[in-house]
Amino acid sequence: MARPQVYITRKIPREAVDIIAAACDYRMWEKEDEAVPAEVLDAEIAGVDGVLTLLTEKWDAARLARAPRLRVLANMAVGYDNIRIPDCTARGVLVTNTPGVLTETTADLTWALLMATARRIPEAERVLRAGQWKTWSPMMLTGQDVFGRTLGIVGLGRIGQAVARRARGFAMRILYHNRRRDPAAEAELGAEYRPLPDLLREADFVVVLVPLSPETRGLIGARELALMKPTAVLVNAARGGIVDEAALYDALKHRRIWAAGLDVWEQEPVPLDHPLLTLDNVVALPHIGSASIATRTRMATLAAENLVAALTGRRPPTPVNP
Ligand code: DGY
Repeated sequence: MARPQVYITRKIPREAVDIIAAACDYRMWEKEDEAVPAEVLDAEIAGVDGVLTLLTEKWDAARLARAPRLRVLANMAVGYDNIRIPDCTARGVLVTNTPGVLTETTADLTWALLMATARRIPEAERVLRAGQWKTWSPMMLTGQDVFGRTLGIVGLGRIGQAVARRARGFAMRILYHNRRRDPAAEAELGAEYRPLPDLLREADFVVVLVPLSPETRGLIGARELALMKPTAVLVNAARGGIVDEAALYDALKHRRIWAAGLDVWEQEPVPLDHPLLTLDNVVALPHIGSASIATRTRMATLAAENLVAALTGRRPPTPVNP
């Protein structure tokens, strides 16, 4: 039987390539820090059965039409807002993602960002390196306490629950908002359900961890930000489109909220002239939530396992549209 033909849209760890090479013929975009150009991708997918893709590649009906043999799209991410699932399902293309393996790593980063934003750590380092540290002074670089405060988690899924577990070590009161209440999580984590407006009014830290979808695009806009406390910190470790960036700039600039920690952006990479980057009360990161060596390697190997399983007639471990 002919070996399946596969395209890999970025240079990924060797372990993952080896899994694919054992069962398939593959071609790969050999650069790690540069996304495959659209015209190269469109040419490469013309005759393939499967693609291992990253969140930097968009997949809709028009792109699928360029890949008439495509049967499997293995996304190396838990989020799959880069893929139009209904278009794939209509074409009979199986989509897979990488849930589970990045939960703890992303929760760690969410906490690092929360702490860095609350205690102004990047700003403090900038002050020191610029030679502006003249003396210990009573109110220099003072931030917000974390211990014992109220955390509001918007999206208590796997990562949200892992963030909540860490919060218990900080003696925090935990509020959450989901589409549906989750009695098991409430019992395990001591989390209290709130409608979104109530969560925004009560929380000292609002952490956004919902997937991006038509329902969650713009979920946190001017009206929602206006409900938050002037001392509150917003952390977005999910997807840029969920928080309205123009409204956030306005709220931060006029100190209607205290600060924001952002790992994700409407446009990535975020343009360097973006207004949010002019503000000292923004901690800005380049979408590194899952970026530990072990986790990124495991995401790549899980994506490869999904791809090969689906192409060799087995059930993939983590399908999205079974
Ligand atoms: C994901 O997996 O969706 C993250 O955004 C990248 O780890």
